[in-house]
Amino acid sequence: MKIVLVGFMGSGKTSVAEIVANDLSLKLIELDREILTKTEYASVAELFKAEGEQAFRKIESELLEKTLDEDDDFVLSTGGGILANNYNLLLLKESDLSVFYLKTSFNNIKIRLADDKSRPLFLDLNRAQSLYQERQDRYQEVADYTIDTDIFSIQQVAQEIKLILCQ
Ligand code: S3P
Repeated sequence: MKIVLVGFMGSGKTSVAEIVANDLSLKLIELDREILTKTEYASVAELFKAEGEQAFRKIESELLEKTLDEDDDFVLSTGGGILANNYNLLLLKESDLSVFYLKTSFNNIKIRLADDKSRPLFLDLNRAQSLYQERQDRYQEVADYTIDTDIFSIQQVAQEIKLILCQ
């Protein structure tokens, strides 16, 4: 079983992926973490600062492709900007993986990330809102399933994913 979670920053992808991977005994892959391991930066913010967003996107895309080629099953938590790249979008759209879009309203994301300074693309609220609007259709385009995380807790979202997969 190969499961991919997509969605905007703060939609709960990493936390949900941890629960699903643990409960289904699948390997957990957190793409941002993989990028940091590969580049040896301490944080995404540091990487952005030192090398810029384009460098980050290039590594992100390489690691996505590498992950999708893996033989082993996994739960993959992607970064919110994974679909900014058309090639990544195509990879996920044409894959036979189970892609879940964790859909969260911008209002809730604002509340969840109010004190978060770790995400370089969420420091300017106007820019973050534009990104949010630009990305909605893209998440939807690759999704096999959409889960509304405004009405569910992290545990409930994970439960919902397991129910769908085990039907
Ligand atoms: C980004 C989202 C982040 C991280 C980077 C860029 C984005 O991941 O990949 O800061 O462009 O939305 P999360 O979605 O896990 O916050």
